[in-house]
Amino acid sequence: MYQQAAEFIASKLHSKPQIGLVLGTGLNSLADAIEDAVVIPFSEIPHFPVSTVHQGNLVAGRLNGKAVLCMQGRIHFYEGYSMQQLGLPIQVMRVLGVKTVILTNASGGICESYFPGEIVMLSDHIKLAPESPLCGKNPEALGERFFDMTTAYDQELRNLAKEAAEELGLPLPEGVYAYMGGPQFETPAEIRALRVLGADLVGMSTVPEVIAARHCNVKVLAFSCVTNMAAGMKQGGLDKAVIQDAERRGQNDMLKLLTKVVEKL
Ligand code: HPA
Repeated sequence: MYQQAAEFIASKLHSKPQIGLVLGTGLNSLADAIEDAVVIPFSEIPHFPVSTVHQGNLVAGRLNGKAVLCMQGRIHFYEGYSMQQLGLPIQVMRVLGVKTVILTNASGGICESYFPGEIVMLSDHIKLAPESPLCGKNPEALGERFFDMTTAYDQELRNLAKEAAEELGLPLPEGVYAYMGGPQFETPAEIRALRVLGADLVGMSTVPEVIAARHCNVKVLAFSCVTNMAAGMKQGGLDKAVIQDAERRGQNDMLKLLTKVVEKL
């Protein structure tokens, strides 16, 4: 399936992409900065899952002079897709030539020092859900059955992102991201449990893609926009309007950071 999807996309592209980008909630506008863009709706690509919550396009072109392939909108487990389907776009990127993916998401902050609107770089993750995008027959052409996740979030790329953030005068703390399936937000008890386990952030995406990327030896860099403090950390419940406001505030910094990082790759 990933081969057929990749062949279809390759027939539309002008050049071979080097960098894959996955844009999370509130970040779709980065795709508008891509030059010489070829836009392919997910719905036209064979076997590609179609996002039900975001705009769903694959946008290929140049960002700061680099050939990028960007998922404008992503798909989530809570939409009813299997973990394997969540990994497929990354496998397709790999076949098309992508060596590095930059993943973005929105998350709840568990670490007390974070604030809504802040950008945090992922240093590691915790996935409590048993499913993996690599469940089932192993696609040997892409990678091995058992693979290492010790350095899933590439240290060299993180160093480079730190440099980029310094140049922009942007604080860029690092944190451990806990993957929860959603679509419901967590309970306060779940957040307390995740804190004890060592999580700094919580969200409903990214980890399936990271796993698929490491399986096929694609390097990973991931950034999160903290849109709210996680459940139970502040008086009252989680307010969607407040979350969306933080998303908007974080968007500018995220766009600047991604553009700078891509320039340095
Ligand atoms: N939990 C899970 N996912 C999220 C959150 C949260 O608090 N905020 C934004 N995405």
